[in-house]
Amino acid sequence: MSQEKVIVLDFGGQYNQLIARRVRECNVYCEVYPHSISIEKIRQMQPKGIIFTGGPNSAYLEDSPICSKEIFELGIPILGICYGAQVMAHLLGGSVKTAPTSEYGKTEVAIHASSALFTGVSPDTVCWMSHTDYIEAPPAGFQITGHTPVCPVAAMECPQRSLYATQFHPEVMHTAQGQLMLSNFVRNICGCAGDWKMDSFVESTILAIREKVGSGKVLCALSGGVDSSVAAVILAKAVGKQLTCVFVDHGLLRKNEGDEVESVFGPDGPYDLNFIRVNAQERFYRRLAGITEPEEKRKVIGEEFIRVFEEEAKKIGAVDYLVQGTIYPDVIESGLGKSATIKSHHNVGGLPEYVDFKEIVEPLRLLFKDEVRQAGRELGIPEYLVSRQPFPGPGLGIRIIGEVTAEKVKIVQNADAIYREEIANAGLGKEISQYFAALTNMRSVGVMGDERTYDYAVALRAVTTTDFMTAECAEIPFAVLQKVMNRVVNEVKGVNRVVYDLTSKPPGTIEFE
Ligand code: XMP
Repeated sequence: MSQEKVIVLDFGGQYNQLIARRVRECNVYCEVYPHSISIEKIRQMQPKGIIFTGGPNSAYLEDSPICSKEIFELGIPILGICYGAQVMAHLLGGSVKTAPTSEYGKTEVAIHASSALFTGVSPDTVCWMSHTDYIEAPPAGFQITGHTPVCPVAAMECPQRSLYATQFHPEVMHTAQGQLMLSNFVRNICGCAGDWKMDSFVESTILAIREKVGSGKVLCALSGGVDSSVAAVILAKAVGKQLTCVFVDHGLLRKNEGDEVESVFGPDGPYDLNFIRVNAQERFYRRLAGITEPEEKRKVIGEEFIRVFEEEAKKIGAVDYLVQGTIYPDVIESGLGKSATIKSHHNVGGLPEYVDFKEIVEPLRLLFKDEVRQAGRELGIPEYLVSRQPFPGPGLGIRIIGEVTAEKVKIVQNADAIYREEIANAGLGKEISQYFAALTNMRSVGVMGDERTYDYAVALRAVTTTDFMTAECAEIPFAVLQKVMNRVVNEVKGVNRVVYDLTSKPPGTIEFE
C-alpha cells in the first residue's frame, strides 16, 4: 500500500466517511481512525496530514471526545473541521462557546485568500454550516482567515505550525469550493504527491496478501455479489490454487445468476482457483416448505446456508484464512452499534464460528462501494458482475410473499428478468438505485383470450436512494411500465396482473419481507 496517506480522526460526526472519500478523490490515500488513537500509533504510521472530523459534542465539556494535545507537536499538518476546529481551538487555549445563534445550511463566508487553504477560492464563497457552538476567539498565534456575521472565526490557522481549521464543512457538496480547499490541504499544505490510484491499491493489496498468506490455504464464501466477487478475484490473483471458493446456489438467485457466477469463477473462467458450486436448491425448497412468516424464512435460509457451507468446509478440512468481502461502510456501521433490528440481515458475517480457520482476510475493508466496483473493473471482472445492484442474502426468498416454492421462484425469476431487460433497454439502469420484481401472494381473476384466469399478481419495485436507509419510489416512464406489464402477463405463465409499488421508505422497506 502507498506510504503516502492522510488520516481522519473521527470525533463522531456524520460526515467522517465522506471526508476520507473526498481526500481519496484528490488521489491521496486516506483512512479513518477513532479520535482515541494513540500518539504512538500515529507516529508509526507517519501520515502526511491529519483531519479532525465534526461531531455532536461541546469541546469544553468534560466527557466530550478529545485527543491528546501532543498531536499538535508532531509536526504533521492538521485540519480541524467543525467540532474538530473547536477541539483544536479549545486544546490550544482559544475560546469555544455556545453561539448566540446557531448557523445551519448554506452560508456565505468571507474568506482571506492569502491562506494556503483557500488558494483559488473566491472571497465570498458559499459554505455548509451546521453548528451551535462556535470559536469566539482563536488560540494565541492563530490568525482568523474567514468569518460570517454570526461566526467571528469561520476559519483560522497557524501556518508556522501547519494547523488549519474551518467551522464549515468543506467535505459536503453544498460547500461550493470545498473540494478545492481539501485539495489545497492535502497537496499544498501536507505536500502529498497525489499519485494514489485504484490500480495501485489493487496491486499493493495483491502483494500484501501474497506475503501474509504465504503457502497457507484460503477459503472464500462466494455469493456472486459485487463485494465477495471482487474479494475472491483479488485472492485468486494473489494466491491462485491455494484459494477455494464455495458458491452455494440456494435456488433463490436471479434468473441465470448461478450459471453466470460459475462462468466467471468456474473451471472455464479466467481465474486459476478451486471452485465448488453446491447446488442446494432442492434442499432449500424442502426446508422452506410451509413457512410463511418473513423472519422465520430469513432465519431458515440463513441457517441452511451456514449448514451447507459448513459441510463443504469440512470436506476441505482446516484452512488458514477465511476471506470476507467486508467493505468500509460495514466497518463503520458495526463500530457504531446498530439501532433496533428491523429485519435480521443474513450475511456471511456469521460464518467464522462454524469454520476451522486461523484468521480472516478482508481485502476490501477500506473501500467504499463504488471504489469496490472500480477495483473490480481494474481486475477485469465482467461489467454485469461489477455493476450488479444490491441483492439480499436471502435472495428471492424475501421477494416471494408467503410460502416459497420452486414454481413461485420460476415466476419471479422470469418476471424480474423481463423487468431488468426493459429497464436496460430504456437506459434507466443508472438512475435507479434498486429495482426488482416480487411475487405477491395474491391471486385474482382475469380474462385472457375469452378464458377466465385466476393467477398471481407481480409487483414491480424501483427506488432511488443514496444510503438505502430512506428511499423514494423511482419515476419510471409509464410507457416502460406498460411494456413490462405487457410482456410479463404474456410471457410468464401463472401471472395475470402487474402492479407498481409507489411506497417510499419509510413507511415501506425496499424489500417486501
Ligand atoms: P430494506 O428492505 O431493509 O433493504 O429496506 C435495505 C437494503 O438492504 C438490502 N437487504 C439485505 N441485504 N441481506 C443483505 O445482504 C439481507 O438480509 C437483506 N435484506 C435487505 C435490500 O436489498 C436493500 O438494498
